[in-house]
Amino acid sequence: MTQKIALVTGGTGGIGTAICRALADDGIKVVAGYNAGGNHDKAKAWQAEQEKDGYKMLAAYGDVTDADSCEACVKNVEEIAQGTVDILINNAGITRDGTFRKMTWDQWDQVLSANLDSMFHMTRLVINPMLDKGFGRIVNISSVNAQKGQFGQSNYSAAKAGIHGFTKALAQEVAAKGVTVNTVSPGYVLTPMVAKIPQEVLDKIIKQIPVGRLGAPEEIGKAVAYLCSENCGYVTGSDFSINGGQHMS
Ligand code: CAA
Repeated sequence: MTQKIALVTGGTGGIGTAICRALADDGIKVVAGYNAGGNHDKAKAWQAEQEKDGYKMLAAYGDVTDADSCEACVKNVEEIAQGTVDILINNAGITRDGTFRKMTWDQWDQVLSANLDSMFHMTRLVINPMLDKGFGRIVNISSVNAQKGQFGQSNYSAAKAGIHGFTKALAQEVAAKGVTVNTVSPGYVLTPMVAKIPQEVLDKIIKQIPVGRLGAPEEIGKAVAYLCSENCGYVTGSDFSINGGQHMS
């Protein structure tokens, strides 16, 4: 059986790294998509770090807000991984938090572009080869804050809620051809993104989490890998919540 190829956007970040590792643990050839403001050395350092821990990861630059850059990224992935993408994890995302009254158009636009337009740019480049092969796995990373809303995140909650609408529509279109599309909605996970929240605000948030702690990136990675496995072909259009009980729907 040929080794499956996965592209994880935002693959060098907190949750992204855990997803890359969980997929690699399952024998998948993993390419981490990165932007890092074009800092290729940072991505190389990440690869070296992974290698020290026994993970051989490929890496490909791409700006998920830019259609041309995504196209170049996927072409590069196909070259370095020697095949088309079987598994796409749309994980890249940003926050630009602020109460709506203070929010600028830039804060809105940047978040919608990076978190939602990226779904269009990346997915359209991998969907046809998946349909041709009769196999594909797409996992879109949303957030608990799509489901419950979050004070200070009207932009992010809107984008992340849009992701699940996209998941459900696309899942219906490709289900008969062996391609599944699912959403994973993490809660507050210990990553650099969450570390940016002021400590007094974060303390209040943790008090609302029945499990009583932040999530670990690995807890998200393992769930994503499960959804990408061969024997997970009957799970599609679903939204998998991993939030310590903070929101139960
Ligand atoms: N509910 C109701 N009122 C609230 C509130 C809340 N949750 N939080 C703050 N307020 C009140 C404040 O008490 C304040 O009231 P007064 O004007 O009467 O004093 C008012 O709202 C304005 O609040 P701030 O002064 O704090 O406003 P700010 O502009 O300085 O900061 C903020 C706003 C940047 C959004 C800040 O509250 C914040 O960082 N919140 C956390 C947002 C968050 O959870 N982000 C998640 C990032 S991680 C992530 O997104 C990953 C994931 O998927 C989970």
